[in-house]
Amino acid sequence: MFAIMHLPLLGMGTWGMGGKFDTDESNFDASVEALRFGFEQGIRLVDVAELHGGGLTERIVGEAIKGYTREDIQIISKVSRDHLKYDEVLRAAEGSLKRLDTSYIDLYMIHKLLPSVALPDALTLKALERLSAEGMVRHIGVSNFNVVQLQEAQKHLASTTIEANEIEYNLLFQEAGNEVAPFCKANGIHLIAHRPLAKGMLVRGENKLLDELARTYEKTPAQISLNFIISQGMTAIPKASDKKHLQENVGALGWKLEEGDIALLRKLDGSVPYQRIQ
Ligand SMILES: NC(=O)c1ccc[n+]([C@@H]2O[C@H](COP(=O)([O-])OP(=O)(O)OC[C@H]3O[C@@H](n4cnc5c(N)ncnc54)[C@H](OP(=O)(O)O)[C@@H]3O)[C@@H](O)[C@H]2O)c1
Repeated sequence: MFAIMHLPLLGMGTWGMGGKFDTDESNFDASVEALRFGFEQGIRLVDVAELHGGGLTERIVGEAIKGYTREDIQIISKVSRDHLKYDEVLRAAEGSLKRLDTSYIDLYMIHKLLPSVALPDALTLKALERLSAEGMVRHIGVSNFNVVQLQEAQKHLASTTIEANEIEYNLLFQEAGNEVAPFCKANGIHLIAHRPLAKGMLVRGENKLLDELARTYEKTPAQISLNFIISQGMTAIPKASDKKHLQENVGALGWKLEEGDIALLRKLDGSVPYQRIQ
């Protein structure tokens, strides 16, 4: 059993680095460089999954962390929804460790459940528990889980607990704020917000309120968007390949939006048609 998980409030997403659903070698070097630049800016958390780039993204992360003290970097990775049988989970984790070229994953998650599956399987959780007991993963989490799925997952664990839930949460899509976030908060489950910039939609300068608040706080719309998440104690994992973006995102740390402004920003939920990808 490892010490209580302590996740930073800002991490780096990796979707598209090394490809999306398919492998794309063309941005390998640039992606490694971007992640290393992020480390130099003080970001010490990387979010990846076996699904990303058909495994290439984990290789990129593995390459990026070379030369850094392993304990200084935290890696989140995930087992895909079509690998959730007991042996498949163990094999998936082994594959991820190999591609990441490391001996452990800090936080290992069930990426999501198939739409046809309502609840997580007991054996999936048992496999995660075994990985934890064997030290291959330090902490166990889930992603895209609702309250019922979280409760069910927790039931199947004896020696570990679900420590994090990575969910879609941004100014344009705040559904998780209704039930999932209060449940997680009450149960000590850390929330990680994926797509925190609504895939870039929030930074196109098309939002009046965001622009106004950016002026008031002398920050940028991206920083306001990320601080909305961070101020609520959640971790945001924006993906940025552009070094200017990485630098800008670090500026979302170290200050807090006022409660009244957070309340105003809550009203942006659903204000713009926003295409979620299932
Ligand atoms: N668990 C899950 O099911 C799940 C699902 C989706 C995503 N995720 C994770 O969450 C991460 C983030 O989500 P995402 O990549 O879909 O979307 P996102 O982080 O909301 O948006 C990424 C886009 O925003 C741009 N960007 C970043 N910082 C910016 C800034 N300061 N100013 C202007 N543009 C900026 C990026 O551009 P550049 O790249 O050009 O800098 C990129 O086009 C993913 O990469 C992935 O790791 C997890």
